[in-house]
Amino acid sequence: MTQKSSNQMWGGRFAAGPDAIMEAINASIGFDKRMAAQDIAGSRAHAAMLAAAGIVSDSDADAMREGLLTVLSEIETGDFTFSTALEDIHMNVEARLKEVIGAPAGRLHTGRSRNDQVATDFKLWVRDQLDAVADALQALMRALVSQAEAGADWVMPGFTHLQTAQPVTWGHHMMAYVEMFGRDLGRVRDARARMNECPLGAAALAGTSFPIDREMTAQDLGFDRPSANSLDAVSDRDFALEFLSSASICAMHLSRMAEELVIWSSAQFRFVTLSDRFSTGSSIMPQKKNPDAAELIRAKIGRIFGANVALMTVMKGLPLAYSKDMQEDKEQVFDAADNLMLALAAMEGMVKDMSANRESLEAAAGSGFSTATDLADWLVRVLDMPFREAHHVTGSLVAMAEGKGVDLPDLSLADMQSVHSEITADIFEVLGVHNSVASRTSYGGTAPVRVREQVARWKELLG
Ligand code: ARG
Repeated sequence: MTQKSSNQMWGGRFAAGPDAIMEAINASIGFDKRMAAQDIAGSRAHAAMLAAAGIVSDSDADAMREGLLTVLSEIETGDFTFSTALEDIHMNVEARLKEVIGAPAGRLHTGRSRNDQVATDFKLWVRDQLDAVADALQALMRALVSQAEAGADWVMPGFTHLQTAQPVTWGHHMMAYVEMFGRDLGRVRDARARMNECPLGAAALAGTSFPIDREMTAQDLGFDRPSANSLDAVSDRDFALEFLSSASICAMHLSRMAEELVIWSSAQFRFVTLSDRFSTGSSIMPQKKNPDAAELIRAKIGRIFGANVALMTVMKGLPLAYSKDMQEDKEQVFDAADNLMLALAAMEGMVKDMSANRESLEAAAGSGFSTATDLADWLVRVLDMPFREAHHVTGSLVAMAEGKGVDLPDLSLADMQSVHSEITADIFEVLGVHNSVASRTSYGGTAPVRVREQVARWKELLG
């Protein structure tokens, strides 16, 4: 048992200081120092409000606001000594403020608590991250739109079950990801709008008897309004969970795309060539060029899912209002945010740099009987055959081609007519992959004309 003097911020009723293990489990300064700028912004807004409401003198508030800037610059330049005994960023800043400005520092904590303070700081931090993620998503989407524009009419196989299904366009495939990341962007923006209520002034849990002005601090910190219930304000971490859950869905999209890049860049596919800047070599096999960035994106996503589950688990059993469990919120969010930003940036870099191998895509597009559906549709359209029957006839033709070891367009008209006598030479037109994709002009379809419309729409939206 280490005997130490009691805590200078809350030690009034304590005779002895904490055990070293107690200090270790209790302290959050090792990670919550990342919220220093937010903590100081919150305290400066609070000090200004205390003076405006006549709770502290103008000169004390001025001293606090100035002193807080000094503390901030010390932290930013690395001249600040963080203390584990002072537990967290809130008490580290306040204790240093006392050293810098003396007695007036003791009035800063009037009408607030660390409970509303930490909720405010963390919200400000998450809000900045939501904005950063929104920017990174838009940069990635712009890179995808450029790829789509360049290859709006390049053909490639579309897959279901990772088996060749029907030809699609490269542009269409790129734009599918733009839709996915566009929904992520929407979720991030929704979360930001919903979270933008200020907890500051909820105090420990019940509000305060001081005549504080919560509208003023809320406005000062860029919030839309103060949060309406003090118990909820200090115990709500929905904003962190919404960040993690929207980050998880976005991460899942990144992982799916990373998986496609791994497959597409393999020697078996050769659909894309990744740039040297976003690949690595092997120390033993000289020929290798590995898609490590894509693999790491695919893998890092696990941390983001994990953070979401971890914080949901922390929160699920907590009675109102604040419990110390909630201190476990920050590391999860910090780690998820760092890795999401890294994954978004790496994906943007890979997409910008990669080149699609048009010839390989086209060769693959025509193999695997990819225009069988076009053939069946021709039988329906021209011979007025019921689709089920057309499906059957086409199946026989596929079996015949497979038996001969050729693709559908390589069958002769006589071969075709031996399966169904009314088939005419016109049928060969729909068996070409370019005609196939060009014909799929339904809204949202893969035809180049539709892809170019979507490219134009997103270019406009993304500015
Ligand atoms: N470091 C704490 C956290 O992150 C700050 C709030 C502490 N409040 C308290 N009543 N002990 O949650």
